[in-house]
Parts: sequence; C-alpha cells; structure tokens
Amino acid sequence: MVKEELILGIETSCDDTGVSIIKTSVNYHDPEQLTLDILSNRLASQTKLHNEYGGVVPELASREHLRSLLPLTNQALTESGITPNCLSRIAVTTGPGLKGSLLTGLNFASGLAAAVNKPLIPVNHLEGHILSAFINSKSYPKKNFPFLTLLISGGHTQIILAKQIGNYELLGETIDDSIGETFDKVSQELGYSYPGGPIIEELAQQGNPEKYNFPKPLLNKQGLNLSFSGLKTAVIREIIKSKSSNENVWENDIAASLQHTISAVLASKIKDAIVATGVKSLVVSGGVAANKKIRETLRKLCQSMQVSVRIPPRHLCTDNGLMIAWAGGVKSIFQENCYPEDLKVRPRWGLGTGTQKSPFC
Ligand code: KG4
Ligand code: ZN
Repeated sequence: MVKEELILGIETSCDDTGVSIIKTSVNYHDPEQLTLDILSNRLASQTKLHNEYGGVVPELASREHLRSLLPLTNQALTESGITPNCLSRIAVTTGPGLKGSLLTGLNFASGLAAAVNKPLIPVNHLEGHILSAFINSKSYPKKNFPFLTLLISGGHTQIILAKQIGNYELLGETIDDSIGETFDKVSQELGYSYPGGPIIEELAQQGNPEKYNFPKPLLNKQGLNLSFSGLKTAVIREIIKSKSSNENVWENDIAASLQHTISAVLASKIKDAIVATGVKSLVVSGGVAANKKIRETLRKLCQSMQVSVRIPPRHLCTDNGLMIAWAGGVKSIFQENCYPEDLKVRPRWGLGTGTQKSPFC
C-alpha cells in the first residue's frame, strides 16, 4: 500500500524564512520505497537588512519572519496547487536558534495546524541539516545509519555519530568559534558583507593557498574537539598588517590560505573520527558544506579511506524550509514519539547525548 502525504515545512531559526511543501510517497510493505516530490521551496533572506548592523539583530529578524511567513506560505500553496486543508502535517523548526525567531515560526505553524486540524512536528534544525543529505537519494534514510556527520554552519561545528533517526551522539565540537563565524568575521575585517563564506570562497579562487602558514589549533591534540578562534585572530592580525602593503593579491591569498587551513583541520579530525568509530559513511552538512574546497577535500579523504560520503547539493546546504519538511516527513514515518505534547521552542537544543561528556572529546 502506498501512502502519500503533503508536508509543509517552516524554518525561522535565524535570519532566513524558509517555507516548503513536499509530497512523500511511502510503500508500507517496502519502506525502502520512499519517494519525494518537491512541490515548492521558498526562501526570504534577510541578509540585506542585517548587513547594515554588521550582524543579525534578533528583534528585526523576528519582525521580518512575521512579515514573510504568510506571503511565502501562500506562494508555496499556490505553486503546489493545493489549499491548506490538503496538508497532511506541518513540520516546524523549534530549536536551536534565536528565541524570538523560533517563536514566530512556531506560533505561525501552530495557528495554521489548529485551523486545518493537522498534526505539528517539531524539528531540530541540526537534524534538518543532517537529513537534508538524503533528499536526493530517493531511498529510505533509516538503512543508511549509522554514519558520521560533520555539521558545519554559522552556529555549529560538530562531529556527530548518527545512530538512528532521532538518536545522535556528539563526538566533538568547536570549543570556541564555529567555522561559519570564522569566515564571516574574516570577511567583515576585509570590508565585505555577510555572509562571509561565499565571499571568502570567491576570493580564494585567485589566491595562493600556501602563502600564509596559519595556525591549526588542536590539530595534533587527541580527541575530536576543534578550535578556530586562534586561527581567526591570526588571520585578522595578518589582514591588519597586509592592509598597509602595496600588493593587490593579498586578499585572495589570505582567503585561499584560510580555506586551505580549515579544510586541512577538518580532514585531519574527520580521519580520526572515522578511525575511532569504524563507521563507513560520512555526511557533511550545514551552510559551510556549500564550500567547494571543503567538499572536495572531504570527498578525497573519504575516497582514500573507502568511506562513502554524502553532501547535500550546494543550494540546500544553507538554511531552507525543504530540509525541515523532509526531516518532519521522515520522522513522522519512521520515528515513534515525534509528536511531543509540550510543544515549545528550545533555543539551545543540542542533538541527542550532547550534554554527556563523550570519550572522544
Ligand atoms: O546553515 P546556515 O545557513 O545557518 C546556520 O544554521 O548557522 O550557515 C550559514 C553559514 C554562514 O556562516 C556562511 O558564511 C556560511 O554558512 N557559508 C559558507 C558558504 N556559504 C555559506 N561558508 C563557506 N563557503 C560557502 N560557500
Ligand atoms: Zn542552519
């Protein structure tokens, strides 16, 4: 028997409003046969608004989400050719993220769910990123577990062991800045706008990755924790020094060397994680996973270790509503207890056993 469902996904954890509608078809006699149709995937970015202030202003972000949610949802419904009553369920990000932004999304989703009398699935933003790697696989993600995950975004830099849908173990994480933050701060110091990652990537194309020998903190330390604040400070110091030089390629060289250093650190830690866990597949996700150099470095590493690797298409690495609709759909089909009674926002919601000290950290 094939069961079709229409799922609306809503993402408002930070400064992007994402609304998506998907159709999932699952054959309950053969759950490997899970197929996905993306009916609509709409995004309203607030980057221009926040650029003026040099970072995301939480109050403005909530207000913009409130402004965007209804028109985006209407557009998504029109594009999908359905009315709200046709929806089977609504998935919404309830953490981690900015409290006001999360509340705006949850309130909107709750109102809509109540109006059409459909269930609401709370989705962890990080799990949304992780499961987004399976969007194009046209296969039942459950059979892909366990796998190792490198989650690299503006808010997080974590190495996670994904044991099953809804069951994750944090193996290591940054002890200070995230990689996204490092790219954003360096870009800002160079006088460019937010988000910095794509700008650094573009500058790096013309640069010499070997020009600067930047520090690689915790590289040779045991454990899977990472650190980027020392690297960030060293790069900023170099920028200040280079600003007075006459060369005109130093920006490109700094960007290429930074990208090269971060890729090398990630490859080294992921190699250790693969050896320590013995897991044979890796998922890389989060906004920074859009970076071509990082994608290529990790693909090469996995190839050399005979480990399979999945990375979402570049346009699905950064925040979007599709990953929330998809995670909600997958959880509703395959995870028990995915409808808690106490629906609330959880701004600091870590994945799984994150509060426990892992032996790998
Ligand atoms: O996942 P995301 O959209 O938001 C969070 O959940 O944090 O990630 C945003 C981060 C930003 O720091 C941005 O600079 C970075 O992802 N990013 C990139 C690239 N595209 C976005 N970093 C490196 N290279 C890129 N191409
Ligand atoms: Zn994100």
